[in-house]
Amino acid sequence: FVGQSESLGMNNPVQMSEVYIIGAQPLCSQLAGLSQGQKKLCHLYQDHMQYIGEGAKTGIKECQYQFRHRRWNCSTVDNTSVFGRVMQIGSRETAFTYAVSAAGVVNAMSRACREGELSTCGCSRAARPKDLPRDWLWGGCGDNIDYGYRFAKEFVDARERERIHAKGSYESARILMNLHNNEAGRRTVYNLADVACKCHGVSGSCSLKTCWLQLADFRKVGDALKEKYDSAAAMRLNSRGKLVQVNSRFNSPTTQDLVYIDPSPDYCVRNESTGSLGTQGRLCNKTSEGMDGCELMCCGRGYDQFKTVQTERCHCKFHWCCYVKCKKCTEIVDQFVCK
Ligand SMILES: *[C@@H]1O[C@H](CO)[C@@H](O)[C@H](O)[C@H]1NC(C)=O
Ligand SMILES: *[C@@H]1O[C@H](CO)[C@@H](O)[C@H](O)[C@H]1NC(C)=O
Ligand SMILES: *[C@@H]1O[C@H](CO)[C@@H](O)[C@H](O)[C@H]1NC(C)=O
Ligand SMILES: *[C@@H]1O[C@H](CO)[C@@H](O)[C@H](O)[C@H]1NC(C)=O
Repeated sequence: FVGQSESLGMNNPVQMSEVYIIGAQPLCSQLAGLSQGQKKLCHLYQDHMQYIGEGAKTGIKECQYQFRHRRWNCSTVDNTSVFGRVMQIGSRETAFTYAVSAAGVVNAMSRACREGELSTCGCSRAARPKDLPRDWLWGGCGDNIDYGYRFAKEFVDARERERIHAKGSYESARILMNLHNNEAGRRTVYNLADVACKCHGVSGSCSLKTCWLQLADFRKVGDALKEKYDSAAAMRLNSRGKLVQVNSRFNSPTTQDLVYIDPSPDYCVRNESTGSLGTQGRLCNKTSEGMDGCELMCCGRGYDQFKTVQTERCHCKFHWCCYVKCKKCTEIVDQFVCK
């Protein structure tokens, strides 16, 4: 695995995203929510900050996609950060948000290196895979996942590492939980990266191939983390201040699994202290028996029915050459909204 001892280190990337996306090069001192160590890194690596913000935003978007049919949909009542108060309890949902945003940062940094956007890194220098056929070339410009991993670890984890806490306290358990989930997110990106190749040779004969390391599509990372969310491990602090699994009959979670320490609220009603928005006003599916079904989504409160007009492109025809012409079809559809 990539070198882990190095220390770059950041605040919850989620809070940063909004700030970074607005200004091109904001002054580090003006960024809200940076920890001391993160401010230092910000000064040292100003050109990295935009990508940290973009990465976190990608993570958040993926979170909203993965949870679009769930009661908790990755939004909160608190507008100071995208996830706001949900982060105050150490739930599975919090675990997912830390992992997916850390993953987004690795993803964005690795790609930025490859694209030559950063002064301190370039194409991947990963070693040639042993199983690559001998006559294929290794050395196209690949995503620099080693660098992305290391910088994301340094920056994203810095905030947790700086927090002052008493050993054995709830706070210390949250720090351990956050660090574990950040790492799980980063490793997911790392492990899903794969070799990509391009053909050369006379008129596409593909007699020659050049290969490089390439990030997986971020949707794959989201899907993998969603599975980890479903199987996340409940943890508690032991007497030596370490996180251990509540149910000791199960195998201990690995560094790639998600962990949590608090049970989740049901997210049915709005509750400022847990950051639950409640499901009133959410769309639901009348015929589904899953989480998106009106029964579960509306928590048994019932739903209202509306008719809405939907417009879609339809009867599309391809014209030579080269455009597609469509008609507009409108349809009246029933929609169901939680009471
Ligand atoms: C958050 O919401 C409050 C009240 O609704 C508003 O005054 C404030 O400008 C908002 N802050 C941000 C960062 O959107
Ligand atoms: C909000 O959630 C907290 C923690 O679960 C609970 O103690 C409190 O009663 C809830 N408040 C409301 C208004 O439901
Ligand atoms: C999440 O649900 C709330 C209502 O509970 C809604 O206001 C918000 O737009 C939803 N967010 C997304 C990203 O769908
Ligand atoms: C509602 O759920 C059913 C069953 O899961 C599914 O076949 C259908 O496509 C869903 N409808 C919408 C609008 O998502």
